[in-house]
Amino acid sequence: MLLRYRQFLVAIPLLAAFVVAGSAAARSDDGGDQSRDTQLDRATDESAQHTLDEGRRIFRYDTFGDEAFWGDTVKLHQAIEGSSHGGVGPGVSPKTALAVGLKVDLDALPDALIENLKKGQVNLDDPGTTLALLKLNAVVGVTGVFDTSGVMLRTIGIQCALCHSTVDNSLAPGIGHRLDGWANRDLNVGAIVSLAPDLSVVATLLGVDQAAVRTVLAAWGPGKFDAELLLDGKGFRPDGKTAATLIPPAFGLAGVNLHTWTGWGSVTYWNAFVANLEMHGKGTFFDPRLNDATRFPVAARAGFGSVHNDPDLITSKLPALHFYQLGLHAPKPPPGSFDPEAAARGKQVFESKRCTSCHVPPIFTEPGWNMHTPQELGIDSFQADRAPDQRYRTAPLKGLWTHVKGGFYHDGRFATLGDVVDHYNAQFSLGLTDQETSDLIQYLMSL
Ligand code: HEC
Ligand code: HEC
Repeated sequence: MLLRYRQFLVAIPLLAAFVVAGSAAARSDDGGDQSRDTQLDRATDESAQHTLDEGRRIFRYDTFGDEAFWGDTVKLHQAIEGSSHGGVGPGVSPKTALAVGLKVDLDALPDALIENLKKGQVNLDDPGTTLALLKLNAVVGVTGVFDTSGVMLRTIGIQCALCHSTVDNSLAPGIGHRLDGWANRDLNVGAIVSLAPDLSVVATLLGVDQAAVRTVLAAWGPGKFDAELLLDGKGFRPDGKTAATLIPPAFGLAGVNLHTWTGWGSVTYWNAFVANLEMHGKGTFFDPRLNDATRFPVAARAGFGSVHNDPDLITSKLPALHFYQLGLHAPKPPPGSFDPEAAARGKQVFESKRCTSCHVPPIFTEPGWNMHTPQELGIDSFQADRAPDQRYRTAPLKGLWTHVKGGFYHDGRFATLGDVVDHYNAQFSLGLTDQETSDLIQYLMSL
């Protein structure tokens, strides 16, 4: 017993020595690594912040060289300045600009101008005021390029923020702090593009006359744009309604596999697509799916499946732009905008009535291949058929409360969330009671 005890006493320092030696060995193996990890972590954090700042700048201010199209080619700037400032037509007053859904960035305005706006001492009927706002770079998503004298608008370019940002209206309707990623459902893209005096390049591309182009644009209405028009040339659906789709939010997209209403590709795929083919920036784009002349006659004719510009003003911006978009979280609904108790009951309904089989929380779309046939959803295939996979993508639902204007589903066919729920109730024979329906709506408004 005694002996055993002494052996034990000897064993303790031995064991201790072993442990110390072991940890020393571990230290000498990773000790350097540990401090390098911290350095690496710090470097990663710094580069993440840098990339985020860069992406924000690109999203808000980069035109990717698209002024060659919006100004130099279709001459939109001439319509904005009007004949009194060397352009054509009556010009665009701030009142008109706000009426077609353009937004003014309060943070770009000097204090004196803000004071005058508050006092109602700024002439909002004067196109000259619009030019002054452009010179301040205060029109969200639009950049004017002035001549060296700073008087003449030489050309104009557009940015991602045009459609995917709005403002908080803190000074006046349409004037406030930027809200990046929010869908601008007031923006009448068709009306704005229609102002351009020379749409011959679009008409030629589509193989129609300018009047036909303007008819298509006039049908879009607020909050809509048609990203497929210049691929398949379809301006209208078979039922005669516009072929344009709603502008979706560009927040809450991290973790979501396929994007756009019809799942064209990843966020960065679509960013390259839009910057090259829709904004008409100068870059490089590759998608052989667009060489299919039966499905995408306009794109195939124009060679959109393989675009090359030198210099390339887009590709170098894709990493930061992608990163920024993934950093944009869906905003939380303000307190009082929904009934929390009803929303809690609605969550149960959402989970028990098949919704989560497609809208998987917390990303509210399927992790993996998030696409469905029109038949599954019980809707027509028109828009799905305009995209490579001929399916609809499960829409992520976070931040729904920010885009109730314009309706729901890709074309806004359901005016309210109640209409959406009624559709599912019929399509999946859910047998929802009135109470369950209203609870479910409150839940959707809480996301
Ligand atoms: C003229 C308006 C307009 C501009 C400018 C615009 N977009 Fe979009 N964006 C849309 C519309 C409309 C859709 C839906 C397209 C579809 O489904 O066919 C869309 C879809 C998207 C999506 C998919 C969102 C989702 O729910 O998955 C992303 C991401 C996106 N845009 C990012 C951008 C970026 C980045 C830019 C700038 C490079 C940009 N957009 C410029 C109108 C616009
Ligand atoms: C089979 C998969 C599937 C199921 C089940 C499903 N959804 Fe959807 N949901 C989709 C798809 C796909 C879309 C996009 C449709 C479109 O773009 O036209 C969508 C769109 C929506 C929208 C509109 C989003 C927007 O931005 O316009 C809401 C709201 C919605 N679903 C709620 C629900 C609720 C509530 C349930 C359960 C009752 C449910 N969904 C069940 C696939 C599904």
